[in-house]
Amino acid sequence: MSTTERASFTTKLGVIAATVGAAVGLGNIWRFPYTAGVNGGGAFLVVYLLCVLLVGLPLLLSELFLGRNTGQNPKGAFRKLSSNKKWQWVGVLCLISPTMVLGFYSVVAGWTAEYFLQSISGDLVGKNAEELGAIFTQFSQDPLRPIIWLFVFLGMTIAVSLGGVQKGIERVSNILMPVLFALLIILGIKSLTLDGAADGLKFLFYPDFSKVTAGVVLEALGQAFFSLSIGLGISITYASYFKKETNMPQTGVIISILDTGVALLAGIIIFPAVFTFGINPGQGPELVFITLPSVFNQMVAGQFWSTMFFLLLAVAALTSTISLSEVIVTFLVEEYKISRKKAVLALMAVCGVIGVISSLSLGAFSSYTFMGKNAFTLIEYVASNLLLPIAGFFIAIFVGWKMPKKVVHEELSTGGKFGAIMFNAYMFALRYIAPVGIIVVLLTQLGVI
Ligand code: ALA
Repeated sequence: MSTTERASFTTKLGVIAATVGAAVGLGNIWRFPYTAGVNGGGAFLVVYLLCVLLVGLPLLLSELFLGRNTGQNPKGAFRKLSSNKKWQWVGVLCLISPTMVLGFYSVVAGWTAEYFLQSISGDLVGKNAEELGAIFTQFSQDPLRPIIWLFVFLGMTIAVSLGGVQKGIERVSNILMPVLFALLIILGIKSLTLDGAADGLKFLFYPDFSKVTAGVVLEALGQAFFSLSIGLGISITYASYFKKETNMPQTGVIISILDTGVALLAGIIIFPAVFTFGINPGQGPELVFITLPSVFNQMVAGQFWSTMFFLLLAVAALTSTISLSEVIVTFLVEEYKISRKKAVLALMAVCGVIGVISSLSLGAFSSYTFMGKNAFTLIEYVASNLLLPIAGFFIAIFVGWKMPKKVVHEELSTGGKFGAIMFNAYMFALRYIAPVGIIVVLLTQLGVI
């Protein structure tokens, strides 16, 4: 693609497949269960759902507005809509955050590829939770193997980006995403038959509000942003490819429902197994990689299910890494007028370094910590829980307060219908709930309030 030529999604299904593919990924299946586990389960879930509805969805619609209205990358979008140059910094934030996220995300994506191979070779068969934990620790702390996978994954992402095979990926994910969904349902049913099902469901769905702290709310907010890809510039960039016929409110609602549905399904699979196999729900990032193989080992043809699952999870991760890289590459090409090839090389170098540091911080560099966090958890925390909400705050102010209401309504209604009641509810959430909520949570967490 040249610097000026812009692609567009051809079909309605293409729009949904690409945007849902971008949203659904490791955030739902890896990050949601472990974050819910660390933050106490049910109460976290309630706060999370509120964050999705009252902050996530309004901001998602606002990003769609910014993208389609301007047909620009995040920085260009702010430039086009405001003469005040300061707003463009929000666009720049939408370059920094996806770069940080792509770095550590590719490490985890690499883990899924490793587990796909381990499933094929049968290495996980017959192992108990303790042995599976040891396998994960040994692998994740290895100085080389996860890094090789990291670059394989970054390489695949870039190959798609450079090779112009987006359409192929779109077609493949049109088939594979429903298969992943079906597989999650099968696994969910299996998990519900386990001995610990009742305890697991209680943990996930029964809210103990005494566990809610500012930290828990911030984690829920960060998870909602991460999962819906808000503040990453992804929806702005993808919506810049939308046609005027695209129904924006419908697209936003479908993304939110499917994204939340997949996260809930992941929780329904993981927590019954956690309680059945005596795994600590607050285990952290390795939770899924210990719990799921334990479930597969209880299933008839477990090796087959395990292989399928990790393959599909890797594909789900790939559709998300593609969206992250698309934001970065489009941004660099359009704003700095460099070739797509150079942009891709820059991405590979920077995200590669972030990924290597993240990966090594789990093993060789684990003694280097800052505020009790290693590099992996620090990068993840700063990006998801600080930078994404900060970008979200400014997007809420910009679209909610700086844009004429009429312009926003017109754009969001074009190609669809955004009735007065729903639009006013959206505007209320955008103007008051989202910015006030984000700022209170951030300041409380930072100790200012
Ligand atoms: N939204 C993407 C995910 O959840 C980044 O995986």
